Amino acid sequence: MLPVAGSDERLLADAVAAYARDLAPRIPAAEEAGAIPREVIADLGRLGVLGMTIPEPDGGLGASSVAFALVLEEIAAVWPSLAVGVSVNSGIAEGTIVRLGTPEQKKRWLPRLIDGSGLASFALTEPGSGSDAAALRTTARRDGPTWVLNGRKMFVTNLRYAPVAIVLARVGEMDAHRPHAGITAFLVPTDAPGVVIGRAESKMGLLASDTSPLTLEDARVGADAVLGPQGTAFGAVAMAGLDGGRIGIAAQAVGIARGAIDRAAAYARERRQFGRPIGDFQLVRNALARAQTDISAARLLTLRAAWLKDRGRPFTTEASKAKLFASEMAQRATHVAVQTLGGYGYMREAAVERMARDARATTIYEGTSEIQRLVIARGMLSL
Ligand code: CAA
Repeated sequence: MLPVAGSDERLLADAVAAYARDLAPRIPAAEEAGAIPREVIADLGRLGVLGMTIPEPDGGLGASSVAFALVLEEIAAVWPSLAVGVSVNSGIAEGTIVRLGTPEQKKRWLPRLIDGSGLASFALTEPGSGSDAAALRTTARRDGPTWVLNGRKMFVTNLRYAPVAIVLARVGEMDAHRPHAGITAFLVPTDAPGVVIGRAESKMGLLASDTSPLTLEDARVGADAVLGPQGTAFGAVAMAGLDGGRIGIAAQAVGIARGAIDRAAAYARERRQFGRPIGDFQLVRNALARAQTDISAARLLTLRAAWLKDRGRPFTTEASKAKLFASEMAQRATHVAVQTLGGYGYMREAAVERMARDARATTIYEGTSEIQRLVIARGMLSL
């Protein structure tokens, strides 16, 4: 038992682990089809997973960030594509609505993000702005009782399943000295006029997770669509939201690594070469032991960041450390898993092949490893 996780938190995670294990036979077909079946999203709604961190008065379970990290690890250990969808919906999207939404916005959107009818999106990245998020060019201008949005967003997770996307847009001209000033968040219904969802990206991994472009062509939303104070969304929505989101991606990476290494250990017990199980050989033991130790260290970093968040303490750099270490660790661990299974590990039918591809994105989305190092170093140097 981990010191930061109590029995309530483990109970939820255990229930989700049992559900996720039963999903395993359906994963290859869903990955092939490039979609998470709607009934799986509905099941997660019924289980309470999609609203688990939403406070009880707003219709959720009121569970902690620690519990959420444990649940994401369990989902990712079996199906990383599903884990990222849940992480974005229930982490950055719902978390921001809970933190900054008006009572009307919460009433309108939270029930639809909890009940399993969809998964919310967060649209920050654009063709010309990824790591330099403040360089975004999507605009929003007021036109009487409505806002009119124009621009292009890229790599939006869950877009195809989303009733709503949190869209970051610039109000007014860009000030070259303070590019983040004026950036405002909007709750954009995906069926609003002028909202166009483009063709899903074809990716290296996470094939069942939807990643799509969003075009806003004079998209109109009501005055009540502004989420949080106008003009301050770069820090208050994007950066603060990503702080929490990065814990989710760290948990996903821990889950991927654990899922892959558990399979490798099982194989090393069964597979015989030179007259004995390959787990008898020191080179195999060494690789597995190192990976297992890495996984434990990444989990502790992840749960520590979540624990600080739960206590309302600063956690920006701790979330970056967790995301950095866990995502890089998942590259090493999945490499070991494929290597341990040898030729079988390279074959499509082996889950470790999929996990090695799925792990790759974790060092990129929600801030690359380079950006996490930048955030950590800034925290150290105050520069
Ligand atoms: N919390 C709250 N506010 C913050 C903050 C935080 N963690 N970090 C910065 N801010 C505020 C600052 O205080 C500052 O505000 P004031 O001027 O009012 O004081 C403002 O934000 C600008 O801060 P910086 O000058 O530090 O901003 P910057 O332009 O140098 O950018 C950065 C910093 C860390 C590089 C940032 O751009 C960044 O994190 N980039 C990576 C973007 C990213 O992670 N994209 C992921 C896309 S979403 C995704 O992948 C989701 C998915 O679907 C899977």
